[in-house]
Amino acid sequence: MGVNETESPQLRDIAVRVAEEAADLVRRARAAMLTGEPVQVDTKSTETDVVTAVDRASERLIRERLAELRPGDEVLGEEEGGAAGDGVTWVVDPIDGTVNFLYGAPGFAVSVGAQIDGVSVAGAVVEPVSGRCWTAVRGQGAWLDGRPLHVSSPPRLDLTLVGTGFAYDAERRARQAAVVLELVPRVRDIRRAGAASLDLCATAAGWLDAYVEHGLHRWDWAAGALIAAEAGATVSLPGEDPELGADATFVAASSIAQPLRALLIECGIDQV
Ligand code: IPD
Repeated sequence: MGVNETESPQLRDIAVRVAEEAADLVRRARAAMLTGEPVQVDTKSTETDVVTAVDRASERLIRERLAELRPGDEVLGEEEGGAAGDGVTWVVDPIDGTVNFLYGAPGFAVSVGAQIDGVSVAGAVVEPVSGRCWTAVRGQGAWLDGRPLHVSSPPRLDLTLVGTGFAYDAERRARQAAVVLELVPRVRDIRRAGAASLDLCATAAGWLDAYVEHGLHRWDWAAGALIAAEAGATVSLPGEDPELGADATFVAASSIAQPLRALLIECGIDQV
């Protein structure tokens, strides 16, 4: 099934609507948590990979709303799983940056992407605390609160600000840190903010010049990578550039994308 030029903005509008409703739920739950109300926390792949009752409630709300607004579409979500269908699949991270959320830090988001045949055609990332709403429609642009987004244009690698993230698996984290050790003297600086969707949006806005991380799940990048691409970034998704490692997500301002890619390979990124 294809999607036409008028359908994608409608999908974007639905992504915004459900992401904002979920963000509202998460914002209220955070306010209660900060006044001392306990939040149930469980662990997933490792003891540091957490899921809260709020992640689950946010995904449940998004699924309910999508079932009303787009009956028949498939949903793939971080907490309840699912699979891609023949038509539109909604790819949902109900709280990206759960560790920040748990610590009371503001850097987390609700991410909702619409994909067809595994390709993102529309998406929204909403930051509950700031209220920022990042959106994109494939082939039509990316916006922050309605303002068009454009990536930065750093002239040199040593003036390039690079975002990254680390896996929950301890051994993999050590290999990722080894690459950062090689990289940090050769770029402007490194950022690790804790929510991949927001790192991708930050690259779209020029708040980062590039972002690279291994092991992201589809729900981490479905909306954010489209937002970065539509803002003009060079993007490779997991599986697309094996020289960066089989599951690398790499997003960069086009002015430094090729030299940064080469530097990352020199730093041994394929061993991560
Ligand atoms: C995580 C965040 C983090 C990234 C991890 C993700 P979650 O998502 O995006 O920044 O480094 O790879 O798993 O677990 O908070 O939804």
